Amino acid sequence: MSLINWIDDRFPLTKVWNEHLAQYYAPKNFNFWYYFGGLAVVVLVLQIVTGIILTMHYKPDAELAFASVEYIMRDVPAGWFVRYLHGVGASMFFLVVYLHMFRGLMYGSYRNPRELIWILGMVIYVALMAEAFFGYLLPWGNMSYWGAQVIISLFGAIPVIGEPLAEWIRGDFVVSDATLNRFFAFHVILLPLLLALLVYLHIVALHKVGSNNPDGIDIKKNKDKDGIPVDGIPFHPYYTVKDTFGIAVFMTIFLGIVFFVPELGGWFLEKDNFAPADILQTPPDIVPLWYLTPYYSILRAVTFEWLPGGAKVWGVIAMGAAIVMFFFLPWLDRAKVRSIRYRGWMYKTALTIFAVTFVMLGYLGTKNPGHIDLFLFENVIWAQIGMLLYFAFFLLMPIYTTLDRTKPEPDRVG
Ligand code: HEM
Repeated sequence: MSLINWIDDRFPLTKVWNEHLAQYYAPKNFNFWYYFGGLAVVVLVLQIVTGIILTMHYKPDAELAFASVEYIMRDVPAGWFVRYLHGVGASMFFLVVYLHMFRGLMYGSYRNPRELIWILGMVIYVALMAEAFFGYLLPWGNMSYWGAQVIISLFGAIPVIGEPLAEWIRGDFVVSDATLNRFFAFHVILLPLLLALLVYLHIVALHKVGSNNPDGIDIKKNKDKDGIPVDGIPFHPYYTVKDTFGIAVFMTIFLGIVFFVPELGGWFLEKDNFAPADILQTPPDIVPLWYLTPYYSILRAVTFEWLPGGAKVWGVIAMGAAIVMFFFLPWLDRAKVRSIRYRGWMYKTALTIFAVTFVMLGYLGTKNPGHIDLFLFENVIWAQIGMLLYFAFFLLMPIYTTLDRTKPEPDRVG
């Protein structure tokens, strides 16, 4: 085709198409768990598109913000739809990313040579948490307001520089119009730009080394006479078609939530955020949305006032450490094999306990620490047990992955 040739002489269109799609060989045994990277890209695009439309009608002004969101919901044509897509989209983004990360833990995708893919993924994850936190203030509801107040005041726990730092972040002594304006700037431009760049780098790093797979086998070790991995298939058309099916199923579930249960019983949109921000009216329980609550639980689990500097600062440290741990996974894991399929009972048990603990901490983070919502103990005691198990998963990993009796990895994918 002459147009393609014309472009190819000026831009590497066919070369990129072949290198990254038509002649990019991915392992032929991708399963359910390999849908989520592609789905995360889809949600990212959806968040950007719906975000642009919301920005056309939203007003980043403490006097006008809440009413402008109500205006979007009632008067802007399909405004409710765009807002719910964006709000539900935030939760779906985290759901997809958590499943994507869990796949990494199951199949050892963070191991050599994919450490940098993992680290870039973790930076994306932290950026995503920041993006969600900034976005949550924008509707200027009462939970938006108090959530920001609580989280920013955590910086105040840092010795000496804490208070001036918290004030600098807010731009005021309390969360105010100045805070809303800067959060708007971060949410609509700084973090989306950063996320798009990071996702690009994440995929560049992935295509440099190639995908892992459910067997954890290196498919590049087995190539035919043309240098093509015998256990690989071209990404296009095989995985483009498979991913399209995954996207269709995912969008059905997503739209089902948007149309029928957009608040998902308070899990995706909290009741307190239907009232405008009120500096005189603290909500009874100030909690972030579900995707941040595992860490919020850890923060609140540190109640030991005898610690030097007081419990609060150690809570902040524990919360930070809980996230930082993930970055070190590639070096904490000493097993001979990557995939859980060939690992022994120790890693399987550790990962199961970790997953259950993470969900439990997430649940407890939405509850009052003094109540009993599980059984026997107050929530804070369960959170302390959870915190212990959480850190044990990482800190004991070099020991149990060395002791674990692994099975030999086969040469070819199953
Ligand atoms: C916006 C968020 C993200 C996007 C759009 C994204 C996108 C992708 C895509 C398209 C793939 C290839 C398809 C697949 O393997 O599913 C991938 C692979 C991978 N991602 Fe992500 N990702 C994101 C976040 C993360 C996070 C938070 C982590 C971990 C901390 C992570 C770790 C990995 C790893 C280790 C692989 C290679 C997996 C393998 O080959 O088995 N990603 N990512």
